[in-house]
Amino acid sequence: MVTSRIPGFYKLPLVERRHAAAEVLGVKVSELESALGLGGFDVKTADKTIENVVGTYALPFALGLNLQMNGRDYLVPMVVEEPSVVAAASNAAKMARAGGGFFAESDEPIMIAQVQLDRVPDVREATRLLIDRKAELCELADRAVPNLIARGGGTRDVIVRDLGEGWLVVHLLVDCRDAMGANLVNTIAEAVSGRIALWTGGRIGLRILSNLADTRCVRIRCAIPPHALVAEGHAGERVRDGIVRASEFASRDPYRAATHNKGIMNGIDPVVIATGNDWRAVEAGAHAFAARSGRYSPLATWRISRGALNEARPAEGEEEGWLVGEMELPLQLGIVGGTLRVHEGARFGLMVSGVETAQELAMLAASMGLASNLAALRALATVGIQKGHMALHARSVAIAAGATGDLVESVALAIFEANNVTVDAARAELMKLTSSFASAAQ
Ligand code: MEV
Repeated sequence: MVTSRIPGFYKLPLVERRHAAAEVLGVKVSELESALGLGGFDVKTADKTIENVVGTYALPFALGLNLQMNGRDYLVPMVVEEPSVVAAASNAAKMARAGGGFFAESDEPIMIAQVQLDRVPDVREATRLLIDRKAELCELADRAVPNLIARGGGTRDVIVRDLGEGWLVVHLLVDCRDAMGANLVNTIAEAVSGRIALWTGGRIGLRILSNLADTRCVRIRCAIPPHALVAEGHAGERVRDGIVRASEFASRDPYRAATHNKGIMNGIDPVVIATGNDWRAVEAGAHAFAARSGRYSPLATWRISRGALNEARPAEGEEEGWLVGEMELPLQLGIVGGTLRVHEGARFGLMVSGVETAQELAMLAASMGLASNLAALRALATVGIQKGHMALHARSVAIAAGATGDLVESVALAIFEANNVTVDAARAELMKLTSSFASAAQ
Protein backbone atom coordinates (compact mmCIF):
# COMPACT_ATOMS: atom_id res chain seq x y z
CA MET A 1 0.00 0.00 0.00
CA VAL A 2 1.50 3.33 -1.06
CA THR A 3 1.52 6.18 1.45
CA SER A 4 1.00 9.72 0.26
CA ARG A 5 2.49 11.16 3.45
CA ILE A 6 6.19 11.91 2.99
CA PRO A 7 7.01 14.52 5.67
CA GLY A 8 9.77 16.96 4.72
CA PHE A 9 9.72 15.83 1.05
CA TYR A 10 9.85 19.38 -0.29
CA LYS A 11 12.90 20.23 1.82
CA LEU A 12 15.05 17.45 0.36
CA PRO A 13 17.57 18.26 -2.35
CA LEU A 14 16.45 16.97 -5.76
CA VAL A 15 18.66 13.87 -5.74
CA GLU A 16 17.42 12.76 -2.32
CA ARG A 17 13.84 13.58 -3.25
CA ARG A 18 14.14 11.26 -6.23
CA HIS A 19 15.43 8.51 -3.93
CA ALA A 20 12.53 9.05 -1.50
CA ALA A 21 9.99 9.03 -4.35
CA ALA A 22 11.46 5.88 -5.88
CA GLU A 23 11.33 4.14 -2.53
CA VAL A 24 7.67 4.98 -1.91
CA LEU A 25 6.77 4.01 -5.48
CA GLY A 26 8.75 0.78 -5.29
CA VAL A 27 10.83 1.53 -8.40
CA LYS A 28 14.57 1.97 -8.95
CA VAL A 29 15.91 5.53 -9.00
CA SER A 30 17.40 4.68 -12.40
CA GLU A 31 13.88 3.87 -13.69
CA LEU A 32 12.58 7.21 -12.46
CA GLU A 33 15.53 9.01 -14.01
CA SER A 34 15.24 7.22 -17.30
CA ALA A 35 11.50 7.94 -17.52
CA LEU A 36 11.77 11.61 -16.61
CA GLY A 37 15.38 12.46 -17.43
CA LEU A 38 14.63 14.07 -20.77
CA GLY A 39 11.08 14.99 -19.86
CA GLY A 40 9.97 11.51 -20.90
CA PHE A 41 9.86 12.39 -24.57
CA ASP A 42 12.75 12.34 -27.04
CA VAL A 43 12.79 14.54 -30.09
CA LYS A 44 12.74 11.61 -32.55
CA THR A 45 9.45 10.36 -31.07
CA ALA A 46 8.14 13.92 -30.96
CA ASP A 47 8.92 14.21 -34.65
CA LYS A 48 6.69 11.20 -35.33
CA THR A 49 3.90 12.54 -33.11
CA ILE A 50 2.99 15.91 -34.61
CA GLU A 51 4.00 17.99 -37.62
CA ASN A 52 6.69 20.61 -38.17
CA VAL A 53 8.60 19.57 -35.04
CA VAL A 54 11.78 21.45 -34.24
CA GLY A 55 12.25 20.32 -30.64
CA THR A 56 10.53 19.37 -27.40
CA TYR A 57 9.43 21.57 -24.47
CA ALA A 58 9.84 20.44 -20.85
CA LEU A 59 7.80 21.24 -17.73
CA PRO A 60 8.34 20.30 -14.06
CA PHE A 61 7.02 16.88 -13.01
CA ALA A 62 6.14 16.82 -9.28
CA LEU A 63 4.34 14.63 -6.76
CA GLY A 64 1.21 15.86 -5.04
CA LEU A 65 1.18 14.50 -1.49
CA ASN A 66 -1.19 13.70 1.37
CA LEU A 67 -4.09 12.75 -0.85
CA GLN A 68 -6.53 10.20 0.44
CA MET A 69 -9.51 9.21 -1.69
CA ASN A 70 -12.16 6.65 -0.83
CA GLY A 71 -10.00 5.46 2.05
CA ARG A 72 -6.85 4.92 0.00
CA ASP A 73 -3.63 6.92 -0.27
CA TYR A 74 -2.47 8.13 -3.68
CA LEU A 75 0.67 9.87 -4.87
CA VAL A 76 -0.47 12.33 -7.49
CA PRO A 77 1.61 12.98 -10.63
CA MET A 78 1.49 16.68 -11.49
CA VAL A 79 3.01 18.51 -14.44
CA VAL A 80 2.67 22.27 -14.09
CA GLU A 81 4.76 25.42 -14.42
CA GLU A 82 3.01 27.58 -11.80
CA PRO A 83 4.78 27.86 -8.43
CA SER A 84 2.77 26.96 -5.32
CA VAL A 85 0.11 24.84 -7.10
CA VAL A 86 1.58 21.52 -5.95
CA ALA A 87 2.46 22.74 -2.46
CA ALA A 88 -0.93 24.36 -1.90
CA ALA A 89 -2.96 21.37 -3.13
CA SER A 90 -0.82 18.96 -1.08
CA ASN A 91 -1.34 21.13 1.98
CA ALA A 92 -5.10 21.23 1.45
CA ALA A 93 -5.17 17.46 0.88
CA LYS A 94 -3.62 17.16 4.34
CA MET A 95 -6.46 19.25 5.80
CA ALA A 96 -9.03 17.04 4.05
CA ARG A 97 -7.37 13.97 5.59
CA ALA A 98 -8.48 15.22 8.99
CA GLY A 99 -12.04 14.46 7.85
CA GLY A 100 -11.25 11.17 6.12
CA GLY A 101 -9.96 12.58 2.82
CA PHE A 102 -11.99 12.84 -0.37
CA PHE A 103 -15.07 10.78 -1.12
CA ALA A 104 -15.47 10.28 -4.85
CA GLU A 105 -17.83 8.62 -7.27
CA SER A 106 -17.89 8.44 -11.02
CA ASP A 107 -20.34 7.83 -13.86
CA GLU A 108 -19.64 5.06 -16.34
CA PRO A 109 -17.07 6.25 -18.94
CA ILE A 110 -19.68 7.25 -21.50
CA MET A 111 -18.85 9.68 -24.29
CA ILE A 112 -21.25 11.34 -26.71
CA ALA A 113 -20.96 10.96 -30.50
CA GLN A 114 -22.89 13.71 -32.31
CA VAL A 115 -24.34 13.27 -35.78
CA GLN A 116 -25.86 16.52 -36.98
CA LEU A 117 -28.55 16.83 -39.64
CA ASP A 118 -30.44 19.68 -41.23
CA ARG A 119 -33.17 19.93 -43.84
CA VAL A 120 -34.95 17.04 -42.10
CA PRO A 121 -38.38 16.96 -43.84
CA ASP A 122 -40.30 15.68 -40.80
CA VAL A 123 -38.41 16.01 -37.53
CA ARG A 124 -41.11 14.29 -35.43
CA GLU A 125 -41.27 11.29 -37.75
CA ALA A 126 -37.45 11.14 -38.03
CA THR A 127 -37.14 11.18 -34.22
CA ARG A 128 -39.72 8.40 -33.84
CA LEU A 129 -37.96 6.30 -36.44
CA LEU A 130 -34.52 6.74 -34.90
CA ILE A 131 -35.78 5.83 -31.44
CA ASP A 132 -37.66 2.78 -32.81
CA ARG A 133 -34.49 1.60 -34.55
CA LYS A 134 -32.19 2.36 -31.63
CA ALA A 135 -31.02 -1.25 -31.28
CA GLU A 136 -30.17 -1.49 -34.98
CA LEU A 137 -28.24 1.79 -34.78
CA CYS A 138 -26.29 0.65 -31.70
CA GLU A 139 -25.41 -2.59 -33.45
CA LEU A 140 -24.18 -0.74 -36.52
CA ALA A 141 -22.12 1.56 -34.32
CA ASP A 142 -20.58 -1.34 -32.41
CA ARG A 143 -19.55 -3.08 -35.63
CA ALA A 144 -17.24 -0.13 -36.32
CA VAL A 145 -15.28 -0.59 -33.06
CA PRO A 146 -14.67 -4.33 -32.51
CA ASN A 147 -11.74 -3.76 -30.14
CA LEU A 148 -13.88 -1.65 -27.86
CA ILE A 149 -16.53 -4.39 -27.78
CA ALA A 150 -13.82 -6.91 -26.89
CA ARG A 151 -12.84 -4.67 -23.96
CA GLY A 152 -16.41 -4.60 -22.66
CA GLY A 153 -17.41 -1.19 -24.04
CA GLY A 154 -19.94 -0.31 -26.71
CA THR A 155 -22.88 1.86 -27.70
CA ARG A 156 -25.40 2.06 -24.87
CA ASP A 157 -28.10 4.45 -26.03
CA VAL A 158 -29.34 6.83 -28.70
CA ILE A 159 -30.82 10.24 -27.94
CA VAL A 160 -32.35 12.56 -30.52
CA ARG A 161 -32.41 16.32 -29.97
CA ASP A 162 -34.51 18.73 -32.00
CA LEU A 163 -32.53 21.92 -32.67
CA GLY A 164 -35.37 23.64 -34.51
CA GLU A 165 -36.09 24.58 -38.14
CA GLY A 166 -35.41 21.10 -39.51
CA TRP A 167 -32.16 20.74 -37.58
CA LEU A 168 -31.69 17.60 -35.57
CA VAL A 169 -28.79 16.02 -33.71
CA VAL A 170 -28.41 12.35 -32.87
CA HIS A 171 -26.35 11.46 -29.80
CA LEU A 172 -24.89 7.99 -29.55
CA LEU A 173 -23.77 7.25 -26.00
CA VAL A 174 -20.64 5.14 -26.13
CA ASP A 175 -19.04 3.38 -23.18
CA CYS A 176 -15.33 3.86 -23.87
CA ARG A 177 -14.10 1.88 -20.85
CA ASP A 178 -10.48 2.92 -20.15
CA ALA A 179 -9.99 4.99 -23.29
CA MET A 180 -10.62 8.72 -23.44
CA GLY A 181 -12.54 7.70 -26.52
CA ALA A 182 -12.26 10.59 -28.99
CA ASN A 183 -11.17 8.34 -31.86
CA LEU A 184 -13.69 5.62 -31.02
CA VAL A 185 -16.55 8.04 -30.86
CA ASN A 186 -15.56 9.86 -34.04
CA THR A 187 -15.30 6.52 -35.85
CA ILE A 188 -18.80 5.63 -34.68
CA ALA A 189 -20.26 8.99 -35.68
CA GLU A 190 -18.91 8.57 -39.19
CA ALA A 191 -19.95 4.91 -39.41
CA VAL A 192 -23.62 5.48 -38.62
CA SER A 193 -24.22 8.79 -40.37
CA GLY A 194 -25.10 7.29 -43.78
CA ARG A 195 -27.83 5.12 -42.26
CA ILE A 196 -29.19 8.06 -40.25
CA ALA A 197 -29.39 10.20 -43.40
CA LEU A 198 -31.16 7.42 -45.26
CA TRP A 199 -33.75 6.91 -42.54
CA THR A 200 -34.46 10.57 -41.88
CA GLY A 201 -34.07 12.06 -45.36
CA GLY A 202 -32.01 14.87 -43.80
CA ARG A 203 -28.71 16.39 -44.90
CA ILE A 204 -25.74 15.12 -42.88
CA GLY A 205 -23.59 17.76 -41.21
CA LEU A 206 -20.87 17.24 -38.61
CA ARG A 207 -19.95 13.87 -37.16
CA ILE A 208 -17.83 14.30 -34.05
CA LEU A 209 -17.68 13.76 -30.30
CA SER A 210 -19.05 16.31 -27.86
CA ASN A 211 -16.56 17.57 -25.29
CA LEU A 212 -19.45 18.48 -23.04
CA ALA A 213 -19.12 14.95 -21.66
CA ASP A 214 -21.86 15.31 -19.08
CA THR A 215 -22.52 11.57 -19.24
CA ARG A 216 -19.03 11.07 -17.79
CA CYS A 217 -19.08 13.11 -14.59
CA VAL A 218 -17.25 12.68 -11.30
CA ARG A 219 -18.56 13.87 -7.95
CA ILE A 220 -16.18 14.68 -5.10
CA ARG A 221 -16.92 15.58 -1.51
CA CYS A 222 -14.85 16.32 1.55
CA ALA A 223 -15.72 17.36 5.09
CA ILE A 224 -13.14 19.10 7.23
CA PRO A 225 -13.16 19.83 10.95
CA PRO A 226 -12.48 23.52 11.64
CA HIS A 227 -9.35 22.79 13.69
CA ALA A 228 -7.66 21.50 10.50
CA LEU A 229 -8.24 24.86 8.79
CA VAL A 230 -6.43 27.10 11.29
CA ALA A 231 -4.23 29.62 9.46
CA GLU A 232 -1.71 32.11 10.87
CA GLY A 233 -3.68 34.03 13.47
CA HIS A 234 -7.07 32.86 12.14
CA ALA A 235 -9.24 30.45 14.14
CA GLY A 236 -10.55 27.43 12.21
CA GLU A 237 -14.19 28.58 12.43
CA ARG A 238 -13.26 31.96 11.00
CA VAL A 239 -11.38 30.37 8.11
CA ARG A 240 -14.34 28.04 7.47
CA ASP A 241 -16.76 30.97 7.38
CA GLY A 242 -14.46 32.89 5.05
CA ILE A 243 -14.34 29.94 2.65
CA VAL A 244 -18.13 29.65 2.66
CA ARG A 245 -18.44 33.38 1.88
CA ALA A 246 -15.90 33.02 -0.93
CA SER A 247 -17.99 30.16 -2.32
CA GLU A 248 -21.11 32.34 -2.18
CA PHE A 249 -19.26 35.12 -4.01
CA ALA A 250 -18.48 32.66 -6.83
CA SER A 251 -22.13 31.58 -6.98
CA ARG A 252 -23.27 35.21 -7.22
CA ASP A 253 -20.73 36.44 -9.76
CA PRO A 254 -19.54 34.78 -13.00
CA TYR A 255 -16.41 36.98 -12.97
CA ARG A 256 -15.42 35.42 -9.68
CA ALA A 257 -16.68 31.94 -10.72
CA ALA A 258 -14.20 31.93 -13.62
CA THR A 259 -11.26 32.50 -11.25
CA HIS A 260 -12.69 30.08 -8.69
CA ASN A 261 -12.87 27.42 -11.42
CA LYS A 262 -9.39 28.30 -12.64
CA GLY A 263 -8.19 27.44 -9.14
CA ILE A 264 -9.93 24.05 -9.45
CA MET A 265 -8.33 23.41 -12.84
CA ASN A 266 -4.96 24.24 -11.22
CA GLY A 267 -5.29 20.89 -9.46
CA ILE A 268 -6.87 18.95 -12.32
CA ASP A 269 -4.86 19.96 -15.40
CA PRO A 270 -1.45 18.97 -13.97
CA VAL A 271 -2.75 15.41 -13.43
CA VAL A 272 -4.34 15.38 -16.88
CA ILE A 273 -1.05 16.45 -18.47
CA ALA A 274 1.15 14.16 -16.34
CA THR A 275 -0.87 11.16 -17.53
CA GLY A 276 -0.80 12.11 -21.21
CA ASN A 277 -4.42 13.19 -21.44
CA ASP A 278 -6.06 15.90 -23.56
CA TRP A 279 -6.29 18.95 -21.30
CA ARG A 280 -8.07 21.06 -23.94
CA ALA A 281 -10.91 18.54 -23.98
CA VAL A 282 -11.08 18.57 -20.18
CA GLU A 283 -11.07 22.39 -20.05
CA ALA A 284 -13.75 22.67 -22.75
CA GLY A 285 -15.95 20.16 -20.91
CA ALA A 286 -15.47 21.73 -17.49
CA HIS A 287 -16.38 25.27 -18.54
CA ALA A 288 -19.30 24.21 -20.73
CA PHE A 289 -20.60 22.23 -17.74
CA ALA A 290 -20.10 25.24 -15.47
CA ALA A 291 -22.35 27.22 -17.79
CA ARG A 292 -25.01 24.53 -18.27
CA SER A 293 -27.70 26.43 -16.40
CA GLY A 294 -27.27 29.39 -18.75
CA ARG A 295 -25.24 31.20 -16.13
CA TYR A 296 -21.53 30.48 -15.57
CA SER A 297 -21.24 28.98 -12.06
CA PRO A 298 -18.65 27.54 -9.69
CA LEU A 299 -17.91 23.84 -10.20
CA ALA A 300 -17.26 23.39 -6.47
CA THR A 301 -19.21 24.89 -3.58
CA TRP A 302 -18.52 25.03 0.17
CA ARG A 303 -21.00 25.03 3.05
CA ILE A 304 -21.12 24.41 6.77
CA SER A 305 -22.43 21.00 7.75
CA ARG A 306 -25.56 20.92 9.79
CA GLY A 307 -24.55 17.43 10.88
CA ALA A 308 -24.73 14.09 9.15
CA LEU A 309 -28.24 13.34 10.40
CA ASN A 310 -29.69 16.44 8.78
CA GLU A 311 -28.08 15.97 5.37
CA ALA A 312 -30.07 14.67 2.42
CA ARG A 313 -27.24 12.27 1.58
CA PRO A 314 -25.80 10.34 4.57
CA ALA A 315 -22.40 11.91 4.94
CA GLU A 316 -19.46 9.78 5.92
CA GLY A 317 -17.58 11.22 8.88
CA GLU A 318 -19.30 14.59 8.58
CA GLU A 319 -20.13 16.40 11.80
CA GLU A 320 -21.95 19.56 12.71
CA GLY A 321 -19.94 22.70 12.03
CA TRP A 322 -17.50 21.07 9.63
CA LEU A 323 -16.64 22.64 6.30
CA VAL A 324 -18.09 20.59 3.44
CA GLY A 325 -16.88 20.93 -0.15
CA GLU A 326 -18.74 19.39 -3.09
CA MET A 327 -17.90 19.33 -6.74
CA GLU A 328 -19.23 17.81 -9.94
CA LEU A 329 -17.73 18.03 -13.40
CA PRO A 330 -17.25 15.95 -16.56
CA LEU A 331 -13.80 14.40 -16.92
CA GLN A 332 -12.92 12.65 -20.16
CA LEU A 333 -9.71 10.83 -19.29
CA GLY A 334 -8.09 7.64 -20.55
CA ILE A 335 -5.45 5.26 -19.28
CA VAL A 336 -4.88 3.46 -22.59
CA GLY A 337 -3.91 4.60 -26.08
CA GLY A 338 -3.33 8.18 -27.17
CA THR A 339 -0.22 9.95 -25.87
CA LEU A 340 0.51 7.06 -23.52
CA ARG A 341 1.67 5.02 -26.53
CA VAL A 342 4.50 7.43 -27.28
CA HIS A 343 5.32 9.32 -24.09
CA GLU A 344 7.42 7.57 -21.49
CA GLY A 345 6.88 10.39 -18.98
CA ALA A 346 3.10 10.00 -19.30
CA ARG A 347 3.39 6.25 -18.74
CA PHE A 348 5.47 6.96 -15.66
CA GLY A 349 2.87 9.49 -14.50
CA LEU A 350 0.14 6.90 -14.84
CA MET A 351 2.22 4.38 -12.88
CA VAL A 352 2.75 6.97 -10.12
CA SER A 353 -1.00 7.54 -9.84
CA GLY A 354 -1.54 3.84 -9.12
CA VAL A 355 -5.00 3.91 -10.71
CA GLU A 356 -6.47 0.89 -12.43
CA THR A 357 -9.29 2.45 -14.43
CA ALA A 358 -9.98 5.67 -16.29
CA GLN A 359 -12.78 6.40 -13.82
CA GLU A 360 -10.37 6.13 -10.89
CA LEU A 361 -7.98 8.54 -12.63
CA ALA A 362 -10.81 11.01 -13.17
CA MET A 363 -11.78 10.85 -9.50
CA LEU A 364 -8.14 11.34 -8.49
CA ALA A 365 -7.66 14.39 -10.72
CA ALA A 366 -10.93 15.88 -9.47
CA SER A 367 -9.93 15.33 -5.83
CA MET A 368 -6.77 17.30 -6.51
CA GLY A 369 -8.98 19.96 -8.10
CA LEU A 370 -11.12 20.27 -4.99
CA ALA A 371 -7.95 20.36 -2.85
CA SER A 372 -6.58 23.14 -5.02
CA ASN A 373 -9.80 25.13 -4.70
CA LEU A 374 -9.74 24.72 -0.91
CA ALA A 375 -6.13 25.90 -0.75
CA ALA A 376 -6.89 29.00 -2.82
CA LEU A 377 -10.05 29.95 -0.89
CA ARG A 378 -8.37 29.42 2.47
CA ALA A 379 -5.50 31.69 1.48
CA LEU A 380 -7.80 34.29 -0.07
CA ALA A 381 -10.06 34.29 2.98
CA THR A 382 -7.12 34.82 5.37
CA VAL A 383 -3.68 36.16 4.53
CA GLY A 384 -4.28 36.60 0.79
CA ILE A 385 -2.73 34.61 -2.02
CA GLN A 386 0.42 36.62 -2.56
CA LYS A 387 2.29 35.67 0.58
CA GLY A 388 2.54 31.95 -0.12
CA HIS A 389 2.82 32.52 -3.84
CA MET A 390 5.66 35.01 -3.47
CA ALA A 391 7.61 32.70 -1.15
CA LEU A 392 7.72 30.13 -3.95
CA HIS A 393 7.88 32.62 -6.80
CA ALA A 394 11.02 34.03 -5.17
CA ARG A 395 12.86 30.86 -6.23
CA SER A 396 12.13 31.40 -9.93
CA VAL A 397 13.14 35.04 -9.54
CA ALA A 398 16.42 33.98 -7.89
CA ILE A 399 17.10 31.60 -10.80
CA ALA A 400 16.26 34.35 -13.31
CA ALA A 401 18.83 36.54 -11.55
CA GLY A 402 21.48 33.88 -12.13
CA ALA A 403 21.49 32.01 -8.78
CA THR A 404 22.38 28.32 -8.95
CA GLY A 405 22.63 25.44 -6.45
CA ASP A 406 22.25 26.35 -2.77
CA LEU A 407 22.29 30.04 -3.66
CA VAL A 408 18.76 29.75 -5.09
CA GLU A 409 17.26 29.13 -1.64
CA SER A 410 19.45 31.76 0.08
CA VAL A 411 18.64 34.47 -2.47
CA ALA A 412 14.94 33.53 -2.54
CA LEU A 413 14.65 33.70 1.25
CA ALA A 414 16.44 37.05 1.43
CA ILE A 415 14.30 38.79 -1.20
CA PHE A 416 11.11 37.27 0.20
CA GLU A 417 11.91 38.40 3.73
CA ALA A 418 12.83 41.85 2.44
CA ASN A 419 9.40 41.89 0.74
CA ASN A 420 11.10 42.71 -2.55
CA VAL A 421 10.66 39.75 -4.91
CA THR A 422 12.21 41.31 -8.01
CA VAL A 423 15.02 40.25 -10.32
CA ASP A 424 16.98 43.43 -9.44
CA ALA A 425 16.78 42.68 -5.72
CA ALA A 426 17.76 39.06 -6.40
CA ARG A 427 20.79 40.18 -8.45
CA ALA A 428 21.90 42.51 -5.67
CA GLU A 429 21.50 39.75 -3.07
CA LEU A 430 23.35 37.29 -5.28
CA MET A 431 26.22 39.72 -5.69
CA LYS A 432 26.34 40.26 -1.92
CA LEU A 433 26.38 36.53 -1.21
CA THR A 434 28.92 35.60 -3.88
CA SER A 435 31.29 38.40 -2.86
CA SER A 436 31.02 37.42 0.81
CA PHE A 437 31.81 33.79 -0.17
CA ALA A 438 34.75 34.99 -2.24
CA SER A 439 36.21 37.09 0.60
CA ALA A 440 35.65 34.23 3.08
CA ALA A 441 37.60 31.93 0.74
CA GLN A 442 40.59 34.30 0.56
C1 MEV B 1 -4.23 31.21 -9.28
O1 MEV B 1 -3.59 30.37 -10.19
C2 MEV B 1 -5.57 30.64 -8.86
C3 MEV B 1 -6.41 31.50 -7.93
O2 MEV B 1 -6.64 32.78 -8.53
C4 MEV B 1 -7.71 30.77 -7.72
C5 MEV B 1 -8.76 31.56 -6.93
O3 MEV B 1 -8.74 32.79 -6.94
O4 MEV B 1 -9.62 30.88 -6.34
C6 MEV B 1 -5.72 31.76 -6.64
